Amino acid sequence: MTLILGVMISGRGSNLGAILQEISKSRCPASVALVVSNIPGAPGLKIAEKYGVRHIVLEPSDFETRRAYEKQLARIFRSLKVELLVLAGYMRLVGSALLEEYPNKIINIHPSLLPDFKGLDAQRQALAAGVSEAGCTVHVVTEELDDGPILAQSRVPVLPNDSVKSLSDRILKKEHQLLPEVITKIALGEIQLTKG
Ligand code: GRF
Repeated sequence: MTLILGVMISGRGSNLGAILQEISKSRCPASVALVVSNIPGAPGLKIAEKYGVRHIVLEPSDFETRRAYEKQLARIFRSLKVELLVLAGYMRLVGSALLEEYPNKIINIHPSLLPDFKGLDAQRQALAAGVSEAGCTVHVVTEELDDGPILAQSRVPVLPNDSVKSLSDRILKKEHQLLPEVITKIALGEIQLTKG
């Protein structure tokens, strides 16, 4: 059974790349029907291209309201029979319109051990707080920023001389494992997405 994914990005797309790599090696029983970027020229679009995955740019500013933008997104994903939406570095809040269309069917990866350090610059927040452990979280998306039921987490140590970059790099390696793992488990029915 292959789980049909829609992936939403805003930038680099390294998590998208990790998903596509695992799919291409037959280690993740899923397929990516479409990659949507809200940012024109996002580098992640090139990754979609490299893997021959359909990709589009859909800019919120071309729509009168966020609702209209999200309804259009939902229409497109539905037309491609997308079953699960994956936010992989998508830097916008998801609103009720998309959540109504894909209830409990949108997941996000965030570079902190939620509920700690929500929002931007999570790795910098972790360093500033002086924690000894950091990591990443995959969770079900709700209308609250970086909230919703936690599906899985992966931990890394914070080292004495860490910079934001060195910590981010260490966390990112874990992200690239965790997100495809969670998608695989959802596809296999080993993780159930329940109401948030
Ligand atoms: C990742 O750190 C992810 O956790 C966060 O945004 C970053 C996206 O990186 N939500 P990339 O675009 O997947 O390389």
